[in-house]
Amino acid sequence: MKANIDFIPFSRPVIGPEEEEAVLRVLRSGWLTTAGETKAFEEEFARYVESGQAVAVNSGTAALHLGLEAMGVGPGDLVVTTPYTFTASAEVIRYLGADPLFCDIQENGFNMDPEQLEQTVKHAPKTPKAVIPVHIAGEPCDMKSIMDIARRYGMKVLEDAAHSFPVKSNDGKWTGTSGHAGAYSFYANKTITTGEGGMLVTNDPDIAKRARIMRLHGIDREIWNRYTAGNTQSWRYAVVEAGYKYNMPDMAAAIGRVQLKKAGEFRSKREDIARMYTEAFSKTHGRWTLPRAPGSRFEHHAWHLYLLSVTPPGGEDGEHYRDRCIEYLSGCGIGTSVHFIPLHIMPYYRARFGFAPQDFPRALSRYQTVISLPIYPALTRHQVDRVVQAVENMP
Ligand SMILES: Cc1ncc(COP(=O)(O)O)c(C=O)c1O
Repeated sequence: MKANIDFIPFSRPVIGPEEEEAVLRVLRSGWLTTAGETKAFEEEFARYVESGQAVAVNSGTAALHLGLEAMGVGPGDLVVTTPYTFTASAEVIRYLGADPLFCDIQENGFNMDPEQLEQTVKHAPKTPKAVIPVHIAGEPCDMKSIMDIARRYGMKVLEDAAHSFPVKSNDGKWTGTSGHAGAYSFYANKTITTGEGGMLVTNDPDIAKRARIMRLHGIDREIWNRYTAGNTQSWRYAVVEAGYKYNMPDMAAAIGRVQLKKAGEFRSKREDIARMYTEAFSKTHGRWTLPRAPGSRFEHHAWHLYLLSVTPPGGEDGEHYRDRCIEYLSGCGIGTSVHFIPLHIMPYYRARFGFAPQDFPRALSRYQTVISLPIYPALTRHQVDRVVQAVENMP
């Protein structure tokens, strides 16, 4: 009965007694939905990332959707993103009746390539309304170049920072705060979690105002405040749009406030693990490509994911070899994943937009050889050593 006792899961949230107490406090307060905890979480988060405003919602996807909506994206518009991401980054474009325009990723990385972005925009049938750079795995995109291109073409920028809290981009700003708005995810496997949850940040008061109205049924209480005074009118509300039901409950926000305090410590533990992996794997040449070029700075990464790209032995198909490695690691009791199956080879995107796999060759080849290894604060030194050993013994 060895069962799964030695199994190292791919991901595991770190929840301590402080989070438990915070949830109990809310449960006992008699108020379970959005109120003071959420407001406090918004204020604390905005302060952390040095952003004007933060709007808490119930998922990262909701934050992306509200951000794009508030930027005025609508039917017939184009929005640029990369195919090397989770479907949430692109599906929100379709929610609004707009179309995604994909551009390929960096030659030696996973993020949006500014040159590819410029080419894509130049050759687009019309100027795209917005760009969604995704800080894949927690590695910041080249925001200086992306913002420069966006300014020249008059495009809005919504950063998908689902993986990248808390780290700064090359312009010295926290990822998520270089563009016109940024979206974070607090899904269970993310760098901080509320179980499910997300945050939209922006320095633009109009985007924040619109997102606050749209996150809760399109209700604008402020317009009543102008005409009424005193608590006797607190029941009144005005529906000014067909909005969404995206508010974050206080139970989630209470967890988020505690996790936010631990964010720096979590990040540095992830960085330690990335260093251990990189140090061990650097000893072997030719068998794999590490997630960052040698000599690049570890601290410029949120290390949400550790993406190892394996090199197939002579003649073997890359994808076939990658799959064999995953099976081998699984046999060693190690959970792994693949980030990402590019969107342009997904049935929906292929059928709707007629993509062929080779349309985005970099995204395709990265996907074919990539494996995500376990990386989270709860991983012990012993577990890291076991992962290293198993990877070194891969077929
Ligand atoms: C790159 C990226 N963007 C957005 C999201 C959506 O976040 P959520 O699951 O909180 O809606 C995810 C989720 O995993 C993601 O990986």
